[in-house]
Amino acid sequence: MKFEFSEEHLSVQQAARDFAQEVLKPGVIERDTHQKFPASEIKQLGQLGFLGMMVDPKYGGGGMDCISYVLAMEEISKVDASCSVVMSVNNSLVCWGLEEFGTEEQKQKYLVPLAKGEIIGAFCLSEPEAGSDATSQRTTAEDKGDHYVLNGIKNWITNGGSASVYLVMAQTHPDKKHKGINCFIVEKGMPGFQVGKKEDKMGIRGSDTHSLMFTNVKVPKINRIGEDGFGFTFAMKTLAGGRIGIASQALGIASGAYELALAYSKERKAFGKLISEHQAIQFKLADMATEIEAARLLCLKAAWMKDHHLDYGTASAMAKVYASRVAMETTTEAVQIHGGYGYVKEYHVERLMRDAKITQIYEGTTEVQKIVISRAVLA
Ligand code: CAA
Repeated sequence: MKFEFSEEHLSVQQAARDFAQEVLKPGVIERDTHQKFPASEIKQLGQLGFLGMMVDPKYGGGGMDCISYVLAMEEISKVDASCSVVMSVNNSLVCWGLEEFGTEEQKQKYLVPLAKGEIIGAFCLSEPEAGSDATSQRTTAEDKGDHYVLNGIKNWITNGGSASVYLVMAQTHPDKKHKGINCFIVEKGMPGFQVGKKEDKMGIRGSDTHSLMFTNVKVPKINRIGEDGFGFTFAMKTLAGGRIGIASQALGIASGAYELALAYSKERKAFGKLISEHQAIQFKLADMATEIEAARLLCLKAAWMKDHHLDYGTASAMAKVYASRVAMETTTEAVQIHGGYGYVKEYHVERLMRDAKITQIYEGTTEVQKIVISRAVLA
């Protein structure tokens, strides 16, 4: 066992840290307040190679490993979780799925611009009545020979308004249940495809989350990913990697809040001394540091397993369930350490506390992760 990063890992981490501090931090409160999508920041993230980090360079990606991805996600999420969710969805759910299961034609047409960050993608599984219960897809895809016709509604889609390419799960053979589901590459602008209302969210308010409507959308058969009926397996395999991204996002939210609380504790005085000299604060900081380190190790272990082509589904669920809990607990304590200042926007920790909550919900709730983990431990 080697608890050591390579030079390359450290330089990716530093580049992400610099970008977060210099480019993301100045406007993050304003973007959160006005629900402003970080369009120019995302463009710059793409130019730096952070939107297709793990994609083979022959398809326009960075050719990096998953450890680098965790390190970069942590740094970006420390400052702006609205940006890091765009990064996570594009890298893990869209690029990875296309690279792993797409045809050469699909890769050339869609993966290359996605990996270069010229466009961004969205992953469309959730529906009004199919969130955790993802097998109950109501969106239909009727097979018409050389094309499919899609009808239905998707909900809570990250990058819903800003994406150009959408991976859409839909049911083709309802009698086959989850084995009848397919995944399709849908382009914005295909007739009958409409972006619905933008959600007014508690956290990650800079990201754009929309419902999507499909009314007789004709999708060429060559845009189906994998064999007929592969869609649910595609979604589950893709989400297993996505959960490493969201776990790392939760880790970053927690460590960002911790760093702010630590710095504040060394500036603020109460009862005649710095609050960092009070044991009540010291113990909080000790707990935060310990829990964050444990969350980081779980994220890195899942990433390491992915890099070594081991089965990482349980490890990624463990990383997500634990890191998202640590994000909630740490951000709450960071607000507490800041006292009244923590409750106002200027000090950043209230935003991080609001942002933390979504990490227990999207890409599989905490309860879904526990289904995945308990099945593995009981198998
Ligand atoms: N890899 C491959 N196959 C898998 C799999 C995996 N990781 N997980 C499950 N499967 C297969 C099973 O083997 C099974 O196949 P067979 O019938 O051939 O045996 C099939 O899928 C159905 O699996 P289950 O019986 O386990 O299905 P279930 O109904 O009990 O559900 C679940 C399992 C874990 C709860 C799953 O439905 C799930 O993960 N739900 C959550 C969905 C989710 O994460 N949604 C997030 C939306 S995306 C998002 O949030 C992105 C964003 O915008 C940020």
